Amino acid sequence: MRYIGNKTRLLPFILRALKTTGVAKGSVHDAFAGTASVGRALKSKGWQVHSSDLLLSSYVFQRAYIVAQSADRSINRLARELSALAPRAGFITRHFSPAGGRMYFTPENAGRIDAAREELATWLERGAVDDDAYYILLAAIIEGADRVANTAGVYASFMKRWQPNSRRRFEVRPEKPKPGREGATAHLLDAAAAARLLGEVDLIYIDPPYNSRQYVAYYHVPEIIARGWSDEGPAVRGKVGLLAGKEGRSDWSHGRRVKKLFSGLLSATKARHALVSFNSEGHLAPAALQELLGEAAVDGEVIHFTQGYRRYRADSERAGRHYHLDRALEHLYLIRLR
Ligand SMILES: C[S@@+](CC[C@H](N)C(=O)[O-])C[C@H]1O[C@@H](n2cnc3c(N)ncnc32)[C@H](O)[C@@H]1O
Repeated sequence: MRYIGNKTRLLPFILRALKTTGVAKGSVHDAFAGTASVGRALKSKGWQVHSSDLLLSSYVFQRAYIVAQSADRSINRLARELSALAPRAGFITRHFSPAGGRMYFTPENAGRIDAAREELATWLERGAVDDDAYYILLAAIIEGADRVANTAGVYASFMKRWQPNSRRRFEVRPEKPKPGREGATAHLLDAAAAARLLGEVDLIYIDPPYNSRQYVAYYHVPEIIARGWSDEGPAVRGKVGLLAGKEGRSDWSHGRRVKKLFSGLLSATKARHALVSFNSEGHLAPAALQELLGEAAVDGEVIHFTQGYRRYRADSERAGRHYHLDRALEHLYLIRLR
C-alpha cells in the first residue's frame, strides 16, 4: 500500500547489500515493519522472519504476509463474498464519508468497507475463518480501502473533489501467502521491547520513522479499519477524524530523542548484525548516525551503501569516505554487533 518509507522499491538494493556483505541467511528481526515489505522479501529468500511495529495495521500485514504460510482454497470465494455485500452505514460511513463531513471515501465505497469489515468480524467470532484467513482478508480490506481512498497518499487530509481512484469500486483482493521458514512471529510492540523478547537473532533490520510525522496520524484510517469497531467505535476528533489517545504514537518522531533511542535499541538487541536504513532527510545527519553505529559495532567498522531514490544505482563504500550528500539518497549501514 501507499506508505511513507515503504521499502518495496528499494528491496533489490537491500537484498544486494546483504548479499555483498555475506551475512549468512538465518533469523531476522524486521523491527519497524510498516507494510512488512522487507520481512516479506526476506521470507521469500529463506530467512526466518520476526517482525514488530507499534501499529495494528502493520501487525495485520505482518500476520498476513509473513506469519501466514498458506491460505485455504476458500480464500478467494470469501473475498468475493465480502466484495459483493450490500453497503452498510457503519463507522467508516459515519466518520469518513460525506455523511460524516469527511470526503475520504464515496458513500458507496464507505458502505462497502463497513459491510466487509463488520462481516469479517462476525466470521471470526463464529469461528468461520481461522486466524490466517482473518488476517489475510483484513489486510486485503485495508489495501482495498487504500486503493479507493480520496487522498494524495497519506490520510492527513482528504481531497476536496473526488479523485478518479476514489470512484472505482472497493474490492477485497487477497494475496495468497507464500510458504517460508517455520517459526515466523509478529509483534505489536515497540522495537526495543520486541528485540528483548526475541533474544538472539542473526540480523536486525532497523527502518525507523525519518521525521516528526506520527505514522498513527498519517494512517489513522487504515488503523481504524484494522482495529474494527463495535457499537460506537473509537473516539475520533478534528477535521480529519484523528484517533483520540496516545496509542501508536512513537518517540522516534521526536528528533532530539532519536540518538538515545538508537543506542537503546542496539543494546537491547541480541542480533549478530544490524542493517540500518536511513534517509538523508532524517533527524540525524548521516555522519552522526555513522559515528553512533561505529561505536556500537564490535570491530568499529560500518559498511555504508547509498542509493538515489529514483535511480537503481548502488555504491558500496567503507566508513570514513567522503560523499556528495544528495537530498534524495537512501542510506544503508551494516555493522556487526557480536
Ligand atoms: C519507515 S516506516 C517502516 C517502513 C517499512 N520498512 C516498509 O517497507 O513498509 C517506520 C515504521 O516504524 C513504526 N514505528 C514507529 N515507532 C516504532 C517503535 N518504537 N517500535 C516499532 N515500530 C515503530 C511506524 O509505525 C512505521 O510503520
